[in-house]
Amino acid sequence: MPRSQPLNGLHALVTGASSGIGAATARRLSVAGYTVALLARRGNKLEEVLATLTGSGHLVLRADLTDTDEIHRAMEQLRAAFGGLNLLVNNAGMGYRARLEELDSDTLTRVFQTNVLAPLLMSKAALPLLRKSHNPVIINVSSVVGRRGVPGQAAYSASKAALCSIGEALRIELASDGIAVCTLCPALTTTGFFDAQPNPGGLAAPELKRADPAEAVAEEVLALAIKPRPEKTLRWKWKLLGALTPFAPRISDRLLVRRLGGEWLAPRR
Ligand SMILES: NC(=O)c1ccc[n+]([C@@H]2O[C@H](COP(=O)([O-])OP(=O)(O)OC[C@H]3O[C@@H](n4cnc5c(N)ncnc54)[C@H](OP(=O)(O)O)[C@@H]3O)[C@@H](O)[C@H]2O)c1
Repeated sequence: MPRSQPLNGLHALVTGASSGIGAATARRLSVAGYTVALLARRGNKLEEVLATLTGSGHLVLRADLTDTDEIHRAMEQLRAAFGGLNLLVNNAGMGYRARLEELDSDTLTRVFQTNVLAPLLMSKAALPLLRKSHNPVIINVSSVVGRRGVPGQAAYSASKAALCSIGEALRIELASDGIAVCTLCPALTTTGFFDAQPNPGGLAAPELKRADPAEAVAEEVLALAIKPRPEKTLRWKWKLLGALTPFAPRISDRLLVRRLGGEWLAPRR
């Protein structure tokens, strides 16, 4: 679909639309002409985002994605309101900054439910609506750390790596349905993400001075919705690091440690 073509009449669902990248994406999609369903747990925040959208007919879906019943209830509400779905943006996610000895099994479960199981279950629940719509697209918001594990974020990195893997599998599995599946890997982005993430040991949060604004990531989501690509990484250095790791892990480790700074050491053996 050429970029100049109006997107009016298309329906999108954005998870994690109550803040950050999801809120910016919902706004950008509405400006482009999409009618948008906003999904997250905090209803008051969703209503605030709803009030900033362009156009009419948008929908608020209050749901906790760690609860399968709530996913199905939300999808039923969406079906009743929209009838079809052209774009699913699996954006909701949570971080977890913790050393190995600080990991707690309830939080680990929540991270994997939110970042891995929810995109799978949402995609499954949305399948009938996507199948009957024109040029359907699923965009999974992963992270640069999905392609290169990062110390102090083993669980979060692993959850985002799983999401990259899901994209690889589903883009072939759903090709016969004409559903494009894209993985977007943002780098540091200025949102409330770092305040919201569990960080039991008080590990240093990254410096956000050179982080991307959420609006820049939202622009990339729209670009993928219009012209789907299998995977897009928003920082070429991270893309290189991810590609280098299986071939030259020691070099990759040294480069990463230098980039992260702080207390981390590259392994000696
Ligand atoms: N910020 C970064 O530097 C960065 C970098 C790379 C990738 N990412 C990824 O980008 C995505 C968006 O993150 P963000 O930076 O915009 O952070 P954010 O502002 O904290 O947004 C996270 C969103 O996910 C929603 N969410 C979390 N758990 C949920 C649950 N159980 N059910 C429903 N919604 C849930 C939150 O809404 P409620 O709390 O209202 O439910 C919120 O809207 C995440 O997948 C994140 O991993 C972020």
